[in-house]
Amino acid sequence: MRSLAPLGSGTKGARLLAQLRRARILSSEMRMRRRGLLITFEGGDGTGKSTQIALLALALRKKSRRVFITREPGGTALGEQVRKILLSGSAIHPRSELLLFEASRAELVESVLRPKLQKGNVVLCDRFEDSSLAYQGLVRGLGLALAKSANHLATGGLKSDFIVLLDTQRSETSRRRLKKRGKMDRFESERASFHRRVRQAYLKLAKTDRRFHIYPAELSKDEIHARIWRDIQRLL
Ligand SMILES: Nc1ncnc2c1ncn2[C@@H]1O[C@H](COP(=O)(O)OP(=O)(O)OP(=O)(O)O)[C@@H](O)[C@H]1O
Ligand SMILES: [Mg+2]
Repeated sequence: MRSLAPLGSGTKGARLLAQLRRARILSSEMRMRRRGLLITFEGGDGTGKSTQIALLALALRKKSRRVFITREPGGTALGEQVRKILLSGSAIHPRSELLLFEASRAELVESVLRPKLQKGNVVLCDRFEDSSLAYQGLVRGLGLALAKSANHLATGGLKSDFIVLLDTQRSETSRRRLKKRGKMDRFESERASFHRRVRQAYLKLAKTDRRFHIYPAELSKDEIHARIWRDIQRLL
Protein backbone atom coordinates (compact mmCIF):
# COMPACT_ATOMS: atom_id res chain seq x y z
CA MET A 1 0.00 0.00 0.00
CA ARG A 2 1.24 3.46 -0.87
CA SER A 3 1.84 5.51 2.24
CA LEU A 4 0.31 8.99 2.27
CA ALA A 5 2.80 11.85 2.21
CA PRO A 6 2.37 14.15 5.20
CA LEU A 7 0.11 17.08 4.39
CA GLY A 8 2.12 20.06 3.29
CA SER A 9 5.07 18.14 1.93
CA GLY A 10 5.59 18.28 -1.84
CA THR A 11 3.89 20.77 -4.15
CA LYS A 12 0.47 19.08 -4.18
CA GLY A 13 0.32 18.97 -0.38
CA ALA A 14 1.51 22.56 -0.09
CA ARG A 15 -1.16 23.71 -2.56
CA LEU A 16 -3.84 21.88 -0.61
CA LEU A 17 -2.63 23.40 2.63
CA ALA A 18 -2.68 26.88 1.09
CA GLN A 19 -6.24 26.27 -0.13
CA LEU A 20 -7.33 25.14 3.31
CA ARG A 21 -5.75 28.19 4.92
CA ARG A 22 -7.42 30.52 2.42
CA ALA A 23 -10.80 28.85 3.00
CA ARG A 24 -10.42 29.24 6.75
CA ILE A 25 -9.51 32.91 6.40
CA LEU A 26 -12.43 33.47 4.04
CA SER A 27 -14.92 31.79 6.33
CA SER A 28 -13.75 33.80 9.34
CA GLU A 29 -14.04 36.97 7.25
CA MET A 30 -17.55 35.97 6.27
CA ARG A 31 -18.42 35.43 9.91
CA MET A 32 -17.00 38.86 10.75
CA ARG A 33 -18.80 40.60 7.90
CA ARG A 34 -21.37 43.07 9.13
CA ARG A 35 -24.84 42.98 7.75
CA GLY A 36 -26.17 46.03 9.56
CA LEU A 37 -25.39 49.68 9.33
CA LEU A 38 -23.69 51.93 11.87
CA ILE A 39 -24.86 55.53 11.89
CA THR A 40 -23.19 57.84 14.40
CA PHE A 41 -24.25 61.28 15.59
CA GLU A 42 -21.75 63.98 16.36
CA GLY A 43 -21.78 67.65 17.26
CA GLY A 44 -21.59 69.91 20.27
CA ASP A 45 -23.79 69.52 23.33
CA GLY A 46 -27.41 70.48 22.85
CA THR A 47 -27.22 70.52 19.05
CA GLY A 48 -30.08 68.00 18.79
CA LYS A 49 -28.36 64.61 18.47
CA SER A 50 -30.81 62.73 20.73
CA THR A 51 -33.77 64.41 19.04
CA GLN A 52 -32.59 63.35 15.58
CA ILE A 53 -31.77 59.82 16.72
CA ALA A 54 -35.34 59.40 17.97
CA LEU A 55 -36.83 60.76 14.72
CA LEU A 56 -34.59 58.60 12.54
CA ALA A 57 -35.38 55.49 14.60
CA LEU A 58 -39.10 56.11 14.07
CA ALA A 59 -38.68 56.48 10.31
CA LEU A 60 -36.52 53.36 10.05
CA ARG A 61 -38.93 51.27 12.12
CA LYS A 62 -41.78 52.39 9.88
CA LYS A 63 -39.78 50.84 7.05
CA SER A 64 -39.52 47.62 9.13
CA ARG A 65 -35.81 48.02 9.76
CA ARG A 66 -34.49 46.59 13.00
CA VAL A 67 -33.06 49.54 14.93
CA PHE A 68 -30.84 49.66 17.99
CA ILE A 69 -30.05 52.89 19.81
CA THR A 70 -27.04 53.35 22.03
CA ARG A 71 -24.70 56.06 23.24
CA GLU A 72 -21.19 57.01 24.20
CA PRO A 73 -19.89 57.14 26.77
CA GLY A 74 -22.18 54.42 28.05
CA GLY A 75 -24.33 51.77 26.43
CA THR A 76 -22.97 48.99 28.66
CA ALA A 77 -22.85 48.53 32.45
CA LEU A 78 -19.16 49.46 32.48
CA GLY A 79 -19.71 52.33 30.04
CA GLU A 80 -22.48 53.86 32.14
CA GLN A 81 -20.19 53.82 35.20
CA VAL A 82 -17.45 55.49 33.16
CA ARG A 83 -20.00 58.04 31.91
CA LYS A 84 -20.75 59.08 35.49
CA ILE A 85 -17.05 59.68 36.16
CA LEU A 86 -16.52 61.57 32.89
CA LEU A 87 -19.51 63.87 33.19
CA SER A 88 -19.14 64.61 36.91
CA GLY A 89 -17.66 67.93 37.93
CA SER A 90 -14.19 66.81 39.06
CA ALA A 91 -11.13 67.70 36.96
CA ILE A 92 -9.63 64.94 34.81
CA HIS A 93 -6.31 65.07 32.96
CA PRO A 94 -6.84 64.98 29.14
CA ARG A 95 -4.97 61.68 28.78
CA SER A 96 -7.06 60.05 31.52
CA GLU A 97 -10.13 61.51 29.87
CA LEU A 98 -9.18 59.96 26.52
CA LEU A 99 -8.54 56.55 28.08
CA LEU A 100 -11.81 56.56 29.98
CA PHE A 101 -13.72 57.29 26.76
CA GLU A 102 -11.78 54.50 25.04
CA ALA A 103 -12.55 52.01 27.82
CA SER A 104 -16.24 52.72 27.43
CA ARG A 105 -15.89 52.49 23.63
CA ALA A 106 -14.03 49.15 23.64
CA GLU A 107 -16.72 47.61 25.80
CA LEU A 108 -19.49 49.00 23.59
CA VAL A 109 -17.86 47.80 20.36
CA GLU A 110 -17.31 44.25 21.54
CA SER A 111 -20.42 43.60 23.56
CA VAL A 112 -23.00 45.69 21.70
CA LEU A 113 -22.03 47.15 18.31
CA ARG A 114 -20.46 44.11 16.64
CA PRO A 115 -23.16 41.66 17.76
CA LYS A 116 -25.99 44.03 16.83
CA LEU A 117 -24.46 44.78 13.42
CA GLN A 118 -23.93 41.11 12.72
CA LYS A 119 -27.62 40.52 13.38
CA GLY A 120 -28.46 43.12 10.74
CA ASN A 121 -29.53 46.03 12.94
CA VAL A 122 -29.27 49.64 11.94
CA VAL A 123 -27.37 50.90 14.97
CA LEU A 124 -27.78 54.57 15.88
CA CYS A 125 -24.98 55.65 18.19
CA ASP A 126 -25.02 58.96 20.04
CA ARG A 127 -21.33 59.94 19.62
CA PHE A 128 -18.54 57.59 18.57
CA GLU A 129 -14.81 57.77 17.86
CA ASP A 130 -15.00 61.14 16.10
CA SER A 131 -15.93 62.72 19.45
CA SER A 132 -12.50 61.68 20.75
CA LEU A 133 -10.79 63.10 17.66
CA ALA A 134 -12.60 66.42 18.10
CA TYR A 135 -12.60 66.82 21.90
CA GLN A 136 -9.49 65.02 23.13
CA GLY A 137 -7.40 65.09 19.94
CA LEU A 138 -8.01 68.62 18.72
CA VAL A 139 -9.62 70.67 21.50
CA ARG A 140 -7.82 69.23 24.54
CA GLY A 141 -4.63 69.19 22.46
CA LEU A 142 -3.54 65.55 22.62
CA GLY A 143 -3.17 65.50 18.84
CA LEU A 144 -5.02 63.62 16.14
CA ALA A 145 -2.41 60.87 15.80
CA LEU A 146 -2.65 59.87 19.45
CA ALA A 147 -6.45 60.03 19.50
CA LYS A 148 -6.61 57.95 16.30
CA SER A 149 -4.40 55.21 17.66
CA ALA A 150 -6.33 55.13 20.95
CA ASN A 151 -9.54 54.90 18.92
CA HIS A 152 -8.15 52.01 16.93
CA LEU A 153 -7.23 50.15 20.10
CA ALA A 154 -10.83 50.51 21.30
CA THR A 155 -12.68 49.82 18.06
CA GLY A 156 -10.41 47.21 16.48
CA GLY A 157 -11.12 49.05 13.23
CA LEU A 158 -14.93 49.11 13.40
CA LYS A 159 -16.03 52.20 11.48
CA SER A 160 -19.19 54.21 11.29
CA ASP A 161 -20.87 54.02 7.86
CA PHE A 162 -22.48 57.44 8.05
CA ILE A 163 -21.71 60.34 10.38
CA VAL A 164 -24.43 62.90 11.09
CA LEU A 165 -22.77 66.15 12.17
CA LEU A 166 -25.14 68.64 13.75
CA ASP A 167 -23.46 71.97 13.34
CA THR A 168 -24.40 75.24 14.89
CA GLN A 169 -22.73 78.56 14.14
CA ARG A 170 -24.33 80.10 17.18
CA SER A 171 -23.16 78.51 20.39
CA GLU A 172 -25.99 80.37 22.21
CA THR A 173 -28.49 78.18 20.36
CA SER A 174 -27.32 74.99 22.05
CA ARG A 175 -26.56 76.71 25.38
CA ARG A 176 -30.08 78.10 25.52
CA ARG A 177 -31.50 74.65 24.80
CA LEU A 178 -29.32 73.01 27.46
CA LYS A 179 -30.11 75.64 30.10
CA LYS A 180 -33.80 74.98 29.61
CA ARG A 181 -33.07 71.36 30.48
CA GLY A 182 -31.50 72.24 33.87
CA LYS A 183 -28.16 71.26 35.45
CA MET A 184 -25.23 71.07 33.02
CA ASP A 185 -22.44 68.43 33.05
CA ARG A 186 -18.63 68.92 32.98
CA PHE A 187 -18.54 69.41 29.19
CA GLU A 188 -21.74 71.39 28.85
CA SER A 189 -20.59 73.95 31.42
CA GLU A 190 -17.35 74.75 29.54
CA ARG A 191 -17.00 78.31 28.24
CA ALA A 192 -18.29 79.55 24.89
CA SER A 193 -14.74 79.50 23.46
CA PHE A 194 -14.54 75.74 24.17
CA HIS A 195 -17.75 75.15 22.24
CA ARG A 196 -16.46 77.25 19.33
CA ARG A 197 -13.29 75.15 19.25
CA VAL A 198 -15.34 71.94 19.29
CA ARG A 199 -17.27 73.20 16.29
CA GLN A 200 -14.09 74.09 14.39
CA ALA A 201 -12.61 70.68 15.25
CA TYR A 202 -15.59 68.85 13.80
CA LEU A 203 -15.57 70.95 10.65
CA LYS A 204 -11.88 70.17 10.21
CA LEU A 205 -12.54 66.43 10.52
CA ALA A 206 -15.47 66.65 8.10
CA LYS A 207 -13.26 68.26 5.44
CA THR A 208 -11.19 65.12 4.97
CA ASP A 209 -13.73 62.41 5.68
CA ARG A 210 -16.53 61.79 3.21
CA ARG A 211 -18.61 59.85 5.72
CA PHE A 212 -19.45 63.15 7.44
CA HIS A 213 -22.76 64.79 6.51
CA ILE A 214 -23.30 68.25 7.95
CA TYR A 215 -26.74 69.55 8.97
CA PRO A 216 -27.39 73.06 10.32
CA ALA A 217 -28.70 72.63 13.89
CA GLU A 218 -30.62 75.93 13.74
CA LEU A 219 -33.19 74.46 11.37
CA SER A 220 -36.42 72.99 12.75
CA LYS A 221 -36.29 69.42 14.08
CA ASP A 222 -38.46 68.22 11.21
CA GLU A 223 -36.42 69.93 8.53
CA ILE A 224 -33.18 68.45 9.86
CA HIS A 225 -34.81 65.04 10.03
CA ALA A 226 -36.10 65.32 6.46
CA ARG A 227 -32.58 66.08 5.23
CA ILE A 228 -30.99 63.24 7.19
CA TRP A 229 -33.68 60.81 6.02
CA ARG A 230 -33.16 61.78 2.39
CA ASP A 231 -29.42 61.09 2.68
CA ILE A 232 -29.75 57.88 4.70
CA GLN A 233 -32.18 56.33 2.25
CA ARG A 234 -29.40 56.12 -0.30
CA LEU A 235 -27.61 53.71 2.05
CA LEU A 236 -30.56 51.41 2.78
N1 LIG B 1 -33.89 71.71 15.70
C1 LIG B 1 -34.26 72.08 16.93
N2 LIG B 1 -34.85 73.26 17.13
C2 LIG B 1 -35.18 73.65 18.39
N3 LIG B 1 -34.98 72.94 19.51
C3 LIG B 1 -34.38 71.75 19.37
C4 LIG B 1 -33.97 71.25 18.08
N4 LIG B 1 -33.40 70.04 18.25
C5 LIG B 1 -33.43 69.79 19.57
N5 LIG B 1 -34.03 70.80 20.25
C6 LIG B 1 -34.23 70.90 21.70
O1 LIG B 1 -32.96 71.24 22.24
C7 LIG B 1 -32.70 70.49 23.44
C8 LIG B 1 -31.43 69.66 23.25
O2 LIG B 1 -31.65 68.70 22.22
P1 LIG B 1 -31.04 67.23 22.32
O3 LIG B 1 -31.18 66.72 23.71
O4 LIG B 1 -31.60 66.45 21.19
O5 LIG B 1 -29.51 67.60 22.02
P2 LIG B 1 -28.24 66.70 22.23
O6 LIG B 1 -27.30 67.08 21.15
O7 LIG B 1 -28.64 65.28 22.33
O8 LIG B 1 -27.74 67.21 23.62
P3 LIG B 1 -26.66 66.49 24.57
O9 LIG B 1 -25.34 66.64 23.90
O10 LIG B 1 -26.72 67.26 25.85
O11 LIG B 1 -27.10 65.07 24.73
C9 LIG B 1 -33.95 69.66 23.70
O12 LIG B 1 -34.75 70.35 24.61
C10 LIG B 1 -34.61 69.57 22.32
O13 LIG B 1 -36.00 69.42 22.39
MG1 LIG C 1 -28.31 63.86 23.83
